[in-house]
Amino acid sequence: MTARTNCSVSRRDLLEAGVVAGIATLLPRGLPAAEPAESSRPLITRTIPASGERIPAIGIGTDSFSDSVRDDIHAELKRMSELGGTVIDTAASYGDSEALIGQALESLGTRDKMFIATKLVGGTSSGSSTPTGAASFQRSLERLKTSRVELLQVHNLNGVAALIPLMQEWKKAGKIRYIGVTTSRVSQHAEIMDVMRNYPFDFIQVDYSIANRDAAEAILPLALERKLAVLANLPFGRASLFRQASERQLPGWAADIDVTTWAQYFLKYVISHPAVTCAIPGSTKLSHLVDNQAAGRGRLPDAALRRKMEEYWDRKS
Ligand SMILES: NC(=O)c1ccc[n+]([C@@H]2O[C@H](COP(=O)([O-])OP(=O)(O)OC[C@H]3O[C@@H](n4cnc5c(N)ncnc54)[C@H](OP(=O)(O)O)[C@@H]3O)[C@@H](O)[C@H]2O)c1
Repeated sequence: MTARTNCSVSRRDLLEAGVVAGIATLLPRGLPAAEPAESSRPLITRTIPASGERIPAIGIGTDSFSDSVRDDIHAELKRMSELGGTVIDTAASYGDSEALIGQALESLGTRDKMFIATKLVGGTSSGSSTPTGAASFQRSLERLKTSRVELLQVHNLNGVAALIPLMQEWKKAGKIRYIGVTTSRVSQHAEIMDVMRNYPFDFIQVDYSIANRDAAEAILPLALERKLAVLANLPFGRASLFRQASERQLPGWAADIDVTTWAQYFLKYVISHPAVTCAIPGSTKLSHLVDNQAAGRGRLPDAALRRKMEEYWDRKS
């Protein structure tokens, strides 16, 4: 983990990405944390470079979805859709996550509104009962109760060369719209950059937060250069950022970007990077989902304010 000041984002980048705070200065200022996110503030969306399609800048991560929180999952996915959120990130290897999502979306009747991103189990994994490659994808479709997914990702760079031809075939056949590759470890950042240069992906997924800015050094600029969409995972450092913030007050100027909670501070920092298409905070509580979706509306920091956010966070007191 690093906590460097990110100087690689220019004002021009931000202007091109349409995220300068001034764009929305006519919008009402600061809301109480409890106010629902479907306020009059516009939903922040981002363009997928490969197609021009726009998706909301805040989705949901589902690594912790399990049967013990089945009702919460149903409530979260229902509310998320009401609030305008669509992006759901899951994986073949996240226990019951895919099946719980499939069941919830079927009973809510919202499958067609959602942008489902799942991940393949790669490798051969001989001796394991977990299916890999084509069998993994088939099982994902069955569990998700769908005939296609919007985004299929190679999980943790495992088996890129072997999986790419299969994924391209499925893309041609209309079973997936976009293909991607993921990591969540700084130790894999050099490898994902190699993959970004050498394979025809539409998306990458990478760890990025105000406390872990390594991706902004080279990966995010490379994503802009190669016109790849970016999902940002671990925006809260697996909740460690909340522990670090527990004794701290938000700065008064957070209201200038419609931030009323630490979650919104962390998320608005992530999605205001011009390379980031969508952040996927994990949540298993409805109140967290509502809080996080609120970060997907209203004003965003410009480059100067992003630096101020970093400096304030780095002070650690
Ligand atoms: N290699 C990969 O491809 C990879 C690796 C890691 C993660 N991911 C993806 O990225 C997603 C995000 O990562 P993550 O879920 O591990 O970590 P995270 O999003 O950094 O943090 C999730 C934690 O933050 C808490 N939280 C969420 N919203 C909150 C709020 N508004 N206020 C206070 N606490 C809040 C959650 O609590 P509750 O559960 O109690 O709501 C949970 O403990 C994953 O779910 C997964 O989809 C992908």
